[in-house]
Amino acid sequence: MRVLVLSGSSRRGSVNTRLAALVADLVTGAGATADRATLGDFPMPPYDGDVEADEGLPPAAQALCDRIADAQALIIASPEYNASVPGVVKNAVDWVSRVRPQPFKDKQTLLASASPSMVGGNRGLWALRVPLEHLGARVYPDMFSLAMAHQAFAADGSLADAGLGERLAATIGAFLDLAEADTRYLCLQRRWYEFLGDRTDAPVTSRAQD
Ligand code: FNR
Repeated sequence: MRVLVLSGSSRRGSVNTRLAALVADLVTGAGATADRATLGDFPMPPYDGDVEADEGLPPAAQALCDRIADAQALIIASPEYNASVPGVVKNAVDWVSRVRPQPFKDKQTLLASASPSMVGGNRGLWALRVPLEHLGARVYPDMFSLAMAHQAFAADGSLADAGLGERLAATIGAFLDLAEADTRYLCLQRRWYEFLGDRTDAPVTSRAQD
């Protein structure tokens, strides 16, 4: 299984990129392939309908779409800005949402955050969940937010607090189990979606394509 592990910060010394590196190690340790990236790998202009009409999708946005499409699961480690999702992260979501087939649709997705604050950027993840779920991403119920992130890492990149490290590993493991089941066992996939009234072949799903 291939998992895109995307940091929502391209800043040197980013705590979210450090968290993403740790997550990628856990993904690899679980036997999956971690494809690591930061948003800095995909420099794209602010979304503008005229730019899209005149020039089409920016190459970096297309590159991000391809990386999402190539992965069976997506993990995003995003900062929180002003109690919400950073503009650059939302801008990338907006560009990607213009592509058909829409890459977030049905994508198993886990959200994580890191912040020097006491809440670890968790409010930003609730804000990020909204557009992703609107687009049909299967956003995992549990999220992981690392508080006081500037002093949370040990020298080897692991989490200094053993209990937090165990919780992160358990969250990643459970998410990968679900993503693997959803990817491999189509009967489970159909039952789950139909239970939610979101049959994969029904017109109702087109809301994520319009
Ligand atoms: C922040 N930061 C921040 N932190 C937080 O926990 N809640 C918040 O609402 C905000 N708001 C905010 C706005 C803006 C514009 C900036 C630049 C920063 C602090 C932020 O968590 C901190 O800079 C992190 O280090 C950013 O993540 P990276 O870049 O280290 O991954």
